[in-house]
Amino acid sequence: MTDDLAALCHAAEHDIATAPDLRALEAVRVALLGKTGRLTARLKELGALPPEARREQGARVNAVKEALTAALEARCAALAAAALEARLAQERIDVSLPARPAESGLIHPISRAMDEIAAIFGAMGFTVAEGPDIETDWHNFGALNIPPHHPARADHDTFYLPPEADGDGPPRVLRTHTSPVQMRTMLAETPPIRIIAMGRTYRADHDATHSPMFHQCEGLVIDRDITLGHLKGCLTDFLRAFFGLPDLPVRFRASYFPFTEPSMEVDIGWNRRSGELGRGGDWLEILGSGMVHAKVLANGGIDPREWQGFAFGMGIERITMLKHGINDLRPFFESDLRWLRHYGFSPMAPAMLHEGV
Ligand code: DAH
Repeated sequence: MTDDLAALCHAAEHDIATAPDLRALEAVRVALLGKTGRLTARLKELGALPPEARREQGARVNAVKEALTAALEARCAALAAAALEARLAQERIDVSLPARPAESGLIHPISRAMDEIAAIFGAMGFTVAEGPDIETDWHNFGALNIPPHHPARADHDTFYLPPEADGDGPPRVLRTHTSPVQMRTMLAETPPIRIIAMGRTYRADHDATHSPMFHQCEGLVIDRDITLGHLKGCLTDFLRAFFGLPDLPVRFRASYFPFTEPSMEVDIGWNRRSGELGRGGDWLEILGSGMVHAKVLANGGIDPREWQGFAFGMGIERITMLKHGINDLRPFFESDLRWLRHYGFSPMAPAMLHEGV
């Protein structure tokens, strides 16, 4: 009996020490101390013994029980600590790891170009202004010195909308250019003014290089001493930064717009055959610009004897196509995922001027 108890104790200690995890340890505990456990059976047997033997054997069985209970507790604590360690090691997060690349979702080339344009002009102190896509005929044409029946309207054939308010309101159009934002800004703010306005514009045009809906960026600078020199410097800097070509040839060519006087088309140097920008001896027209016409200033509530400035407007699709060598305009608006994946930009690398846009 004595040896038997010693053997039981010995075997139990071994089982406890080698239990690989908390679950196994619990099984060992139940096999010893559960209702039908081996040690429980020994305790039950005590009742059948004569008093003297019961006291003696009881003390021994209880001592074994205490020793084994302590061993169980110690092993339990050790296994719990080990389990926690393992879990911590497995679930560790390395906060220094770079972010995972986005699985889906890319920035559309037009949105990217707008971010880049905003970054470049932002660095020159411009803010971004906005205007509505549905404009009054006056903001879109009249205020910009394009009266009814002026031939310049022929280039801007658009979508005419019924007037608001039961026919009593002003005639409305889908804006044909972003230039009406010039007027809205002049009427809402006092000079000095330095804004760009980007957004959708509409014309009744549709072929490989024209879409009935396209995007433009307008610029307006008004101050007391603004000259043509500022216009040239500003646009040259912009074009060189946007195309990433510090020595891009830029040419200013006399032209006509009703809302500027004098007016200039801006050309950049390129190779007509290869499409390469920056050299090749050919010129490509890229945007329109000029000194804001005195009548336009006056329409905007600004005294042309006190203030003057320059304005410019360019097509965003056009400069985006040139920058990335995209030769068809139509896929820009077809939402074909293969095209978007090819030409899209990662949202994790936003347009920032200090890295070159
Ligand atoms: N609004 C003109 C267009 O859509 C572009 C333009 C030319 C805007 C000259 C200007 C400007 O502000 O000065 O063709």
